[in-house]
Amino acid sequence: MSTVSVLPVSVAPVGPGVELSALKYVYVELTVKCNLKCHFCDNAMRNLYRDMPGDRFREIVSQLQPGTKLALHGLGEPTLHRGLVDLIAFAKTRGLYVYFNTNFTVATDDQMRGFVEHQLDELRISMSAGSREAFESYSGRDLHDQLLARARRMVAIRGSSAKPLLRAVFVLTRQSYSEFPAVIRHVEDIGFDELQVQTFLNWGKPRGPEEPTDGCAIDERERLAIRATMTAAAKSATRVRIILPFPPDGTDADVEETLQPGRCQWPFDAIWITADGHVTPCCNLHDPRQLTLGTVFGRPVGEVWLGPQYESFREKYRRNEVDACQTCPINYGQFKSYTYG
Ligand SMILES: C[S@@+](CC[C@H](N)C(=O)[O-])C[C@H]1O[C@@H](n2cnc3c(N)ncnc32)[C@H](O)[C@@H]1O
Ligand code: SF4
Ligand code: SF4
Repeated sequence: MSTVSVLPVSVAPVGPGVELSALKYVYVELTVKCNLKCHFCDNAMRNLYRDMPGDRFREIVSQLQPGTKLALHGLGEPTLHRGLVDLIAFAKTRGLYVYFNTNFTVATDDQMRGFVEHQLDELRISMSAGSREAFESYSGRDLHDQLLARARRMVAIRGSSAKPLLRAVFVLTRQSYSEFPAVIRHVEDIGFDELQVQTFLNWGKPRGPEEPTDGCAIDERERLAIRATMTAAAKSATRVRIILPFPPDGTDADVEETLQPGRCQWPFDAIWITADGHVTPCCNLHDPRQLTLGTVFGRPVGEVWLGPQYESFREKYRRNEVDACQTCPINYGQFKSYTYG
């Protein structure tokens, strides 16, 4: 029988005074290349700029405090970066907590051995469909079997090592939610540690050409219906820890509570660095053509993080005046917060 636990949702701090030591989460995008074209992704980013050069990566990472959480993904597929394992090794020797999301359809055995050897902290494998057909329908490629086979291989190569923790990531959309029970069965069978469901983000952009005509986003009415069935499915898991983007019960009070804006912590403790060195405020506003807060190629990370452009973005966020935040699930604590299991 599963128990339900709730992680605290913290509220964004008010007033000025952000310090460099507040920077806890750093995303360094290694590449915008990808072998898939997921219908929920921002495919307009594809090949927009070159891969992150190794020396630039080392320069950035050398400025971070030990213990900082470092993600190596952005809007592309990290396993396509030639230097991936070396860059993980470098970041780990600096005492950082290192992880990344991957579609894991083309990862090699050598890479997997490298993840274990250098004690990558987490590997987050994306899986938003439970069948070949549904996978091809959202990703544009018939690679579901390859994904499952590689995930199994990763579990075998990890063996008795505690790292990397293996988390599956499921993007919740109108098209994907019915796939959730089948995905639970796969991740339990393969031997993942966790399954995280995250709400669809619209990137603060109009719908892209790959997105289905009825859109990927679920509305509040659908969300209520979906969360009941998904919560029940989550409770059927016996081995895997499941993280859902819903409060644990279905009362209206919970819904009202989550609809209060101002819960996003990104402007105060996290930073997104694109493969061409631009700093943007968050994963949702990841496109430097929409907004850049400066570059960290040749300029210290701290100077950008504490600089006037960043502070003016924070002020706008505090006043709830950033357009993209108005429809962003992260602003309302609806992205990923609650554990079941
Ligand atoms: C943009 S991808 C990059 C890493 C890698 N290519 C992958 O798919 O895992 C990072 C994560 O965002 C998820 N994702 C993609 N589009 C999304 C969207 N519109 N909303 C929420 N998550 C999304 C992916 O499933 C993946 O877990
Ligand atoms: S979600 Fe990942 S795998 Fe899918 S198109 Fe985007 S970057 Fe590629
Ligand atoms: S709420 Fe705003 S700042 Fe936070 S992730 Fe969403 S768009 Fe970015």
